[in-house]
Amino acid sequence: MAILKIARMGQPVLRRPAASVPVPADDELRRLIEDMVETMHDAGGTGIAAPQVYVPKRVIVFFVEAGRARRSVAEPGADPAAEDEGISLTVLINPDYEVIGETQADDWEGCLSIPGLTGQVPRWQRIRYWGQDPDGTQIEREAAGFHARVVQHEIDHLNGVLYPDRMRRLDTLIFTSEIDSYLDEDTGA
Ligand code: NI
Repeated sequence: MAILKIARMGQPVLRRPAASVPVPADDELRRLIEDMVETMHDAGGTGIAAPQVYVPKRVIVFFVEAGRARRSVAEPGADPAAEDEGISLTVLINPDYEVIGETQADDWEGCLSIPGLTGQVPRWQRIRYWGQDPDGTQIEREAAGFHARVVQHEIDHLNGVLYPDRMRRLDTLIFTSEIDSYLDEDTGA
């Protein structure tokens, strides 16, 4: 396993559509996936897409920490104390999604290819997504809130889209280190 170099915004590989990948994965692709996972964990990310490590292929890996999966979802009648186990490490090859409902929500997002910055990005609140695992087994899930946000963010990478492209208010594009000042000002606290 190896920690790979992460492409930063400005690298053309981040702006090109990535190519579909045959499954089951060959040894080279399995090595790439292992390295993507190691690189994501090393960088403290919750997801990474192959173009971010200079490989223009349709492969993403992600996970969602326990307690974050339902963040920012307003579910009528939902028990706020209900168990949220998060989403375990998921590898998706040739992923895609469709939107469920018509609700979007803004929330803070960051990206390993845009280090040090964060911004408010509108995303669909509920989606159904699918793809294959490295063995070629079909995965299909419904997702909401932060989980849905992560999947939309990573699939965007496969289409050459970075989160600032999606932002409606560029005045929310700020350094992560300044977010406390920003929020204090915002709330008048
Ligand atoms: Ni990203």
